[in-house]
Amino acid sequence: MGAEGDIFGEVKRYHLTTFGCQMNEHDSERMKGMLESLGYTEAPERAEADLILFNTCSIRESADSRFIAHLGEAKRLKREQPGRVVGVGGCWAQSVKEEVFARFPFVDVAFGPGQVHKLAEFLTSDSLTAQGYFEFEGFTGHLPARRTRPFQGWLQISVGCNCACSYCIVPSTRGREVSRPLAELVAEVEAMSADGVREVTLLGQNVNSYGRDLRIDGRPASFSELLQAVDAIEGIERIRYTSPHPKDMREDVVRAHAELRSLCEHIHLPLQSGSSRILKAMRRTYDRQRYLDRVALIREHVPDVALTTDIIVGFPGESEEDFAETLEVVEEVRYDSAFTFIFSPRRGTSAAELTEGLVPHPVKVQRMERLLEAVQRHARERAQRFVGRTMEVLVEGPSRTDPERMRGRTRHNKVVNFSGLATPGELTQVRIDGASSQTLSGEESLLARVAG
Ligand code: 5AD
Ligand code: SF4
Repeated sequence: MGAEGDIFGEVKRYHLTTFGCQMNEHDSERMKGMLESLGYTEAPERAEADLILFNTCSIRESADSRFIAHLGEAKRLKREQPGRVVGVGGCWAQSVKEEVFARFPFVDVAFGPGQVHKLAEFLTSDSLTAQGYFEFEGFTGHLPARRTRPFQGWLQISVGCNCACSYCIVPSTRGREVSRPLAELVAEVEAMSADGVREVTLLGQNVNSYGRDLRIDGRPASFSELLQAVDAIEGIERIRYTSPHPKDMREDVVRAHAELRSLCEHIHLPLQSGSSRILKAMRRTYDRQRYLDRVALIREHVPDVALTTDIIVGFPGESEEDFAETLEVVEEVRYDSAFTFIFSPRRGTSAAELTEGLVPHPVKVQRMERLLEAVQRHARERAQRFVGRTMEVLVEGPSRTDPERMRGRTRHNKVVNFSGLATPGELTQVRIDGASSQTLSGEESLLARVAG
């Protein structure tokens, strides 16, 4: 059914729900931009939309089940008003492909992560049958974006992943790694900057292997070269990136954090496990010592860096000793924050086939609790080093807990709630007077404001 199946009058309205990672946030901004250029406006509620869209994730089972519950509501809304169009994009759609129509017959259009532009084709065609689009065809960079915050932009530098982590569904949903040409990325950031973007986050499944598949004057491009090129762009005050792989975290990238003005003092370095035996089973291609060497190199060049990580507990075969090694690494590195996950078998991955040494659920939960205790303790302790300092904060909006106060982020990626006069999009100086594991609090330095 085409978009002319409009049920609420002339203006077509869409509602989009995004699940998953920042790559999906990015794709959703492109979807919104594209829909608005087609004349759609955003509906505040799903029930008010004539185009109901989901941008899905498949990384863990919990992501699947959360989304399926939302899809149930779309089914009901479509039954009430059959003129509605229901679309499902992203990694879950890609991982089940055409099966989506058999399992959920009310879905009109489904598309994988490389197929965002096909949504427009579908909506502007007179197609009366359900359509699925799953071949990767290109980046969404050329599509217009509707940014959630006008001063923060995403830059998709590559798609796909050549790693073979045994637990991960991404290589099967996003395919082999393809990097975008450096000149194209620079032009995109220049356009963002002209548009008012001050902070750009470089996105890829494995950002620091960027460029190996490219040739500039016969040689590959490198991630540090890209960082330098983006740093040189006028108006860009902050650069972030996610996620790097420890195996590709070379000295040139570490040095860039010390040398480039706008590259933030924050590195997210996914550990996954502190046991070399489990890392091998995960096919991470580094061991505990190599990981710790990278951390030492980072701390040598950027002593005040904020380090964050991802850790999985309960991978098949993880013994108490293996888990204790993970805890040891956590104690040694002292992360500023960490995302912790219970292993979730994903369809099509080799870890899902493992049958030996499966960790019983209560043991997984208990390990998770022990890990969280350590992670939160370090996060709280590490945050204390900011108390008493005056730090640069990019203002994002009002505080979520107290509308009288503002909320922003330091270069270390710490959320700060503060009182002051600054408005969203501004960079200001905040004197930090309190720190918990999650957030900092403070007061805007009005002196700096007058002087600035
Ligand atoms: N089970 C649990 N956690 C997973 N992650 C990826 N795949 C799985 C899985 N099957 C975690 C990893 C990754 C983060 C984005 O999600 O820690 O870094
Ligand atoms: Fe989820 Fe991974 Fe897809 Fe991001 S790339 S949406 S985390 S499955």
